[in-house]
Amino acid sequence: MGRDKPRDIGVYLEEPRSPSSKVKPVEDDEVGPPAPPPPVENANFFSRLFFANIDRVMFRGYKQKLGKEDLHELHPDNKAHIVAETLQLNFDTEMAKVRDAFALASTKDEKQAIAGKVFFRAVVKSFGKLYILPIVLMVFWSALSLIGPGVLLREILAFIAVDTIEPYVGYLYALAMFFAQFFASLCIHHTFASGQRLGLRLRGAVLGSVYRKTMKLSSINESGTSVGEVMNIVAGDAERLFMASTFTIFMFGAPLSFIASNGLLIGYVGPSALAGLAMIVVLSVIQGVLGKRISNLRKQAVQQADERVRLLNETLVSVKLIKFLNWEDYFVGRIGEKRSQEVSFLLKLGAIKALNILVTIASPIFVLGLIFVAYIGSGQRLTPDAAFSAMSLLGILMFPLAVFPQAVKWVSEARVSMKRVGFFLALPEIDEGKGNEQAMETISVKVDNGSFRWLSSPDAEVILKGISLNYDVPVREEEKGKVVAVIGAVGTGKSSLLGAILGNMYEVGKKGSVKKNGTIAYCAQEPWVLNATMKDNILFGLPFDQKKYDRTIHACSLTSDIELLPAGDMTEIGERGINLSGGQKARVSLARAVYADPQIVLLDDPLSAVDAHVGKHIFEECIKGVLKGKLVFLVTHQLQYAKHCDSIVMMGRHCVDAVGTYDELMTSNSHFSQLIKAHTSEGKETKKEAEAEAAAAEKVVVESVGVQKPKSLA
Ligand SMILES: Nc1ncnc2c1ncn2[C@@H]1O[C@H](COP(=O)(O)OP(=O)(O)O)[C@@H](O)[C@H]1O
Ligand SMILES: [Mg+2]
Repeated sequence: MGRDKPRDIGVYLEEPRSPSSKVKPVEDDEVGPPAPPPPVENANFFSRLFFANIDRVMFRGYKQKLGKEDLHELHPDNKAHIVAETLQLNFDTEMAKVRDAFALASTKDEKQAIAGKVFFRAVVKSFGKLYILPIVLMVFWSALSLIGPGVLLREILAFIAVDTIEPYVGYLYALAMFFAQFFASLCIHHTFASGQRLGLRLRGAVLGSVYRKTMKLSSINESGTSVGEVMNIVAGDAERLFMASTFTIFMFGAPLSFIASNGLLIGYVGPSALAGLAMIVVLSVIQGVLGKRISNLRKQAVQQADERVRLLNETLVSVKLIKFLNWEDYFVGRIGEKRSQEVSFLLKLGAIKALNILVTIASPIFVLGLIFVAYIGSGQRLTPDAAFSAMSLLGILMFPLAVFPQAVKWVSEARVSMKRVGFFLALPEIDEGKGNEQAMETISVKVDNGSFRWLSSPDAEVILKGISLNYDVPVREEEKGKVVAVIGAVGTGKSSLLGAILGNMYEVGKKGSVKKNGTIAYCAQEPWVLNATMKDNILFGLPFDQKKYDRTIHACSLTSDIELLPAGDMTEIGERGINLSGGQKARVSLARAVYADPQIVLLDDPLSAVDAHVGKHIFEECIKGVLKGKLVFLVTHQLQYAKHCDSIVMMGRHCVDAVGTYDELMTSNSHFSQLIKAHTSEGKETKKEAEAEAAAAEKVVVESVGVQKPKSLA
């Protein structure tokens, strides 16, 4: 229970607004040095009881705009990676128990149902104990708030009405009333605080585990999960679980205060209270109907808005064509039509919402009116103590009435969310292999008779069969390094080989055939850039080092490209910035790998997208230059570089055909020597052709200008 106690308070801040919303900067000496982190761990009992440990931050926030530096360090129990790990561990243990049932379930629905239950058990195991405190406090609050306005108020009113009771009794009642309210207030605020903290932990745990999972997912296509679904979990389900977690606590308090306050009400005003209760039932039915209508309308309005936005997007994308063909009026009309439909839904929605609020606010008055009418109608005299107690009891009654339906809604939504999150967490993961087993004396990549496929299912095609490789570079002989060329026709499995080394493929049969030692960087065949500046794309989160950066830029032949960009390496590239050519993207990807300064570098055909002279530069300056001392795997079709590589892996269809040095393969492998011959003659041909073309072009120019060719060019 120790950890359940409120120890720290999360402070939530908005992101700093755009510069346009000017905030007057506060001079430092005006507020003194930055607030030290609140002593959450050492905060004394009273400070915790009255939330005094955030006073400082609140006061600071009153004087100036709060910044990130004003936030204190999170308590370890609240850190996302820690809560995520706890949840993950419990999920894995629980999942292990139902592995078979899960594997046997044939439909996605069945699997989701199982995974949902597992997830629920994991949540209970991870956070269940933390619910005890807020639930107990909630029950206390319900009891105290009933005793105060319910019981004590009536006694005080009765005391005022009658003169015969000793005065001190009245004072005692007043004092008791004060304490009941005081403790009720403490209870409810600690319920909220610990409930929120719990919800945040749960949300953090879900987000953390989902994030971890996306990094380990075997293949998002195979799992049948789309990127959209992951986004849904992150944006929707985590939030729903957070809300549900808070409302679960109310679910425990609400029925209790509902029953108790009803009981008291009947005790005070007798059977007339039943008339009021009937009225409450009628009003809740009305509210339920209105609520349903509201959610329907909201759904429709959102649909309309989606459609309008889609249409608007389409229009904007092809705005040139539309303007060219003078179709503006037509499209403006269509968008306007969609918008007015949307507005009509919104209007209806607004009206029904207003009605709903009216019913909510007016219902106590209706109910109370009905109770009093029934009370007087049955011939009884309405005394102040009965009247006021009934009124305050009704006030108490409104809370469970307001929260309970919401709690039911959130909890039922959370059930669906749990299924989705659980199912996602139960998806197959890639085998990362063991790796890093040797002491760090050699950088190495070893594959021992491994077979691999991209998909986990046993029927999936085996893409690589019986692969054995063994490469190492002693760390001590730094300057040496090794470049391994991986060659072969398209589709033979060169990229897959890199995938297998990375641990992205499934091993067939025995596990653990891949062993690697050293840090790895990988340049995929399909280069990618982030939506960020050129510089950020290369640094990729690493600290900036001018010398290393300049060397990388030069080695990857990016110098002139950067010069041509409008803002140099601070130019935004990627989807929303400047569009790079394929070759530029390939070089940015390469630069990212080079800058990361790994020990093992896997390069998937980096030379294919660049011009011949750039390719030569990259091979000499980068692969044989800055990457010297590293273990480089270079997938390439540019056989002219094979000669300069330390080893060559020749891929046949889905297997390794031959491994050896250039000279070895030239003498022993006829296929290889033929390939090289064909490549060089082809190279020569194209070179000759190019030369001939250039000469012809020159001739034309010279002839048309009619000047003598200078000697130096002859
Ligand atoms: N990421 C992947 N997921 C699933 N299948 C893949 C993946 N990459 C390659 N493959 C499959 O592996 C086989 C070999 O392809 P690949 O390794 O890309 O050959 P190469 O790089 O030599 O052209 C192909 O049948 C291809 O469809
Ligand atoms: Mg490939």
